[in-house]
Amino acid sequence: MKKRLHTRQATFRQLEVFREVAERLSVTDAARVLHLAQPTVSTQLARLAQALDAQLFEQIGKKLYLTDVGEELLTTSRELFEVLDRLEMRLAQRAGLSVGRLRLGVVTTAKYLVPGLLGPFCKSHPQVEVEFQVGNRAEIRRRLQDNLDDLYVFSHPPRELDIELTLLTENPLVVIAPSEHPLARRKRVRWDELAGERWLMREQGSGTRHAIERHCEAQGLRLDNPITIASNEAIKESVAAGLGVAILSRLALTHMAPGNLVELPVDGFPIANSWYLVVPRGKQLSPIAEAFKHYLLSELGAAA
Ligand code: PGA
Repeated sequence: MKKRLHTRQATFRQLEVFREVAERLSVTDAARVLHLAQPTVSTQLARLAQALDAQLFEQIGKKLYLTDVGEELLTTSRELFEVLDRLEMRLAQRAGLSVGRLRLGVVTTAKYLVPGLLGPFCKSHPQVEVEFQVGNRAEIRRRLQDNLDDLYVFSHPPRELDIELTLLTENPLVVIAPSEHPLARRKRVRWDELAGERWLMREQGSGTRHAIERHCEAQGLRLDNPITIASNEAIKESVAAGLGVAILSRLALTHMAPGNLVELPVDGFPIANSWYLVVPRGKQLSPIAEAFKHYLLSELGAAA
């Protein structure tokens, strides 16, 4: 019992010093690694030997040797520090990495892109709580300005704000029509052949709409009879039902789309567009947000 109490008088610091000396069999080398003065190392060793009531080293000539007790203590110290390392890792995880909250703000069209990546990420970080905000460009821009989320995905990042952006991947915008449309089987469609079509457009504030308006302005194109519909899903359903044609992200066509939609091969299309990952400049990301950012970049590849 007395011996046990002595063992517990050893401090972690003494054991750490002892381990460094025992592994190098040199007080000088251990002192250098530990950034301690040599006499400090010798004092810690002497206190440890006293606490354990045992000799830990033998000096023969200039060489240092571990005694049997020293060997025993070295094995135990290694085990002990391994356990402590594991504890440290778990505490770090609790503090953020796998138990944290990941807040994402993505524009509506990016909802076809991000969940497919979020799924596997959450599988490997099962304790992460995800807050996934979806809105049009104007809504997500407001969240970014108010610093409400960790990471954002835009195709038209608000460059007037102080942000860091990273290219993720392409997001071409294409003309869609119902599959029974007279132009649906054509290899090539001229823009003027679409004159008289009714266009279904996203609402003001939508990045898709913003991109289309910019494109039309630059190319001198006009969209006749536009009808505003504030949802990609509703636009797709309306196009499929024969209400008109639309310009949407190609991703919207390949995800959750009614079967009877086609892309028309219109001259000058697709409108080139890209997805960007956006972070407010200087924002201190949580470990989990940092991990998701790296995951996105490595999966989408553009900037990896
Ligand atoms: P939105 O998304 O049309 O849903 O706003 C695209 C974007 O921001 O570019």
